[in-house]
Amino acid sequence: MLLSRYTNPSRMLHCILRMNSSTFKILNDIPTEKTVPQFTVGRKNGFLPWGTPLARLPEPFKIIDEILDEAPYYKRDGTPGLLATGSFGEYVREKLPLLDVSNIKDSALLFALYRDYTFLTSQYILEPCHLHFLASKFKDYGLGRSRLPANIAVPLVSLAKQLGAKPFMEYTCYATYNWQKIDPSGNLDPQNLKLIRHLEGSQHETGFAAVHIAMVQHSGDLVSNVQDVIDSAEKKDREEFDICLKKLLETIKVINVKMDTMWEQSSPKAFNNFRSFMMGIKNQPMFPKGVVYEGVSEEPTFYRGVSAANDSIVPTIDNLLELTNSMPDNSFTAMLRDFRTYRPINHSEYLSYVEEKAKSVGVHAFATQDSNSTVLYQALLDQVSEFRERHWRFTKNYILKHSKHPRATGGTPIITWLPNQLATVMQSIVNIQNFIKEDELSNENKQLYIELTKKADTQLRILNREVEELKKEYPGQDMEFQEVEGYKSKRVQVQPATAFIQRQSAVA
Ligand code: HEM
Repeated sequence: MLLSRYTNPSRMLHCILRMNSSTFKILNDIPTEKTVPQFTVGRKNGFLPWGTPLARLPEPFKIIDEILDEAPYYKRDGTPGLLATGSFGEYVREKLPLLDVSNIKDSALLFALYRDYTFLTSQYILEPCHLHFLASKFKDYGLGRSRLPANIAVPLVSLAKQLGAKPFMEYTCYATYNWQKIDPSGNLDPQNLKLIRHLEGSQHETGFAAVHIAMVQHSGDLVSNVQDVIDSAEKKDREEFDICLKKLLETIKVINVKMDTMWEQSSPKAFNNFRSFMMGIKNQPMFPKGVVYEGVSEEPTFYRGVSAANDSIVPTIDNLLELTNSMPDNSFTAMLRDFRTYRPINHSEYLSYVEEKAKSVGVHAFATQDSNSTVLYQALLDQVSEFRERHWRFTKNYILKHSKHPRATGGTPIITWLPNQLATVMQSIVNIQNFIKEDELSNENKQLYIELTKKADTQLRILNREVEELKKEYPGQDMEFQEVEGYKSKRVQVQPATAFIQRQSAVA
């Protein structure tokens, strides 16, 4: 009875891995079994696949390699590809047979096929949008293709079902399952990476995706450190807890330093040359009636586009620090939750596990019982703020300076969604001072706590002013978003000018 629910062996094994433990089974080693899902959270691989992504497909799928080699705006030899001449749609309709993907046992092939069909999908429906964007004076995207042909749609839906994923391009397809090492013995820093599939084909595109991969290569340490923080809080071992918080802090700092290499790896001016193909269907003016997947259903679909909001690093830290729960109760936070469904199923389960476990163990409560632990906790919040603040700077420089399009690739309002989370973290850094008794602090921690509190307070005021200014240029950023599943209210409350400053975070 139980086995019959899982027609795919990799899915079945995945469920058994979960059922073995009342908590969550983190991989300690790289599996030897080929059916283990590629994206299974582990102490070594973290949020990367446990195997090396499959770069070339076997027969009878080689035709997909051929089409995807021909597709990018610039092919590997630098000549224009199908997307540059607007001939991708016709080419793929004619050349791609309807292939049977219903029984793929090898998890590497399964994910590679899923990645490749999502590339075909995004290139197909967004090809007209990219050409429109390049030609239009006002830098808008026009309309996308509203019907996906059966030779793409049917296999994609089958693959997505086998994986428990959405039949649309996710972050894993574009970044974390899309790399090859140049020197196989080297690490995953951008200098040693090339992409398997391209949308545009420039070095800027490679650099953009590579920075994400370079950051995620440290997620194994993150997973280990997060678990150690939870375990030491559960044991109520103060000394060990503080050591674990410090180790986690060092790991996040390393990840943040990698993030900062974006500026040199990928130029802000080049971003819009490949961004069009990352757009989704949901909350996007290019797809007012969604997209019909022919051969599957005449009911239109609405999926979010590629966004690193699907990455699991920040949501894991948010959950450990019990920040997610302190986000305001509005449609923006509902979007944050919705993003958590756009990732490998094992990652979603891991995020839920960290959220529930941190709450039941009382990570925040245990930290704030001691002033010196509280400062360490505050320093972790500061790193989350640094991540989101740098990220907001990316958005201003890579996107807002070059386009007035009102929605990000994941379908969020471009100038209000990121500040929703950033402001919450900054406010939490300020509020947590209520738990700190200065006379109990070491000299080093006293200095740190004063600096962090002052910095967050100042940044919060600047952010608030900035968003209010930007709202004048981008109307409709507080609009209702009925499409967000589970969101009951009809309208996001229009925030008063001081709302970000006044918001009372539940964290402190
Ligand atoms: C040029 C660089 C980048 C730009 C312009 C950018 C832009 C954006 C935008 C506009 C969003 C809003 C969500 C949506 O797509 O609808 C977003 C979300 C997000 N991005 Fe990026 N991004 C960049 C790089 C990165 C990198 C390197 C990471 C690292 C993993 C990252 C992680 C995230 C996360 C975690 C979110 C969710 C934010 C939150 O929870 O507050 N981004 N990004």
